[in-house]
Amino acid sequence: SQFKIAVVVGSIRKESFNARLAEGLSRLAPSNFTFSKLRIDDLPLYNQDDDGNQAEAVKRLKSEIAAADAVLFVTPEYNRSMPGVLKNAIDHASRPYGQSAWAGKPAGVIGASIGSIGTALSQQHLRNVLAYLDMPTMGQPEAFIQVKDGLFDDNGDIGAGSREFLQKWVNAFAAFVERHAKV
Ligand code: FNR
Repeated sequence: SQFKIAVVVGSIRKESFNARLAEGLSRLAPSNFTFSKLRIDDLPLYNQDDDGNQAEAVKRLKSEIAAADAVLFVTPEYNRSMPGVLKNAIDHASRPYGQSAWAGKPAGVIGASIGSIGTALSQQHLRNVLAYLDMPTMGQPEAFIQVKDGLFDDNGDIGAGSREFLQKWVNAFAAFVERHAKV
C-alpha cells in the first residue's frame, strides 16, 4: 500500500540543513512512500485563548497531519533543545484538549547540526514530547548528523559518505511505518 509521510522541519530558514536533509531522506525512500513538508512558518504564536477559534494556518496544519499515515521530524538543536518554532507547531496541533492531530501517528526523529553532538539533546527532548502525545516513535536506529562538507552532493542527494548509513535509517523508518500505521 501507499504511505503518506508528513515532514516537520524544525528550522524555517531558507538554506536550512535540516530542510535539505529532509529532502535527501525523502529521495531514499521506497516508491510507495510520499513525503510532504508541512508549513509551520505562518503559524501564529500559540495562545490558549484561541483554542476555540484556531487560525486557518492551524486548521490546515491539523488537517495535513490527519491525512498523513506517519510524521517525520527533522530538526536542528537550539540551545540544547528543540527550536521554538517546532514546539509552537506541536503545541498548536495538539489542541483543543482531546482533539490532538498527533495522537497515534507513528513518528521518526532525526536531525542535523553543525555541533558535534548532532542534535542528540534536541531529539531527546522531542522524544519526551512525542511520548506524551501518544506517537509511537522509532527507537532504533538513531541518527545524529553533524553537518560537514559533502553531506549533500550537487544534486541535493545525500552525499556518498553518509548515503549507506542514511539509507539504512530510511529503510528502518519505512518498515516501522508499515508496522505501525493505521491503514
Ligand atoms: C544553534 N546551533 C546549535 N547547534 C548545536 O549543535 N547545539 C545547540 O544547542 C545549538 N544552539 C543553537 C541556538 C541557536 C539560536 C541557533 C541559531 C543555532 C547551531 C545550529 O546547529 C545551526 O545553526 C544549524 O545550521 C541549524 O539548523 P538549520 O537551520 O541549518 O536546519
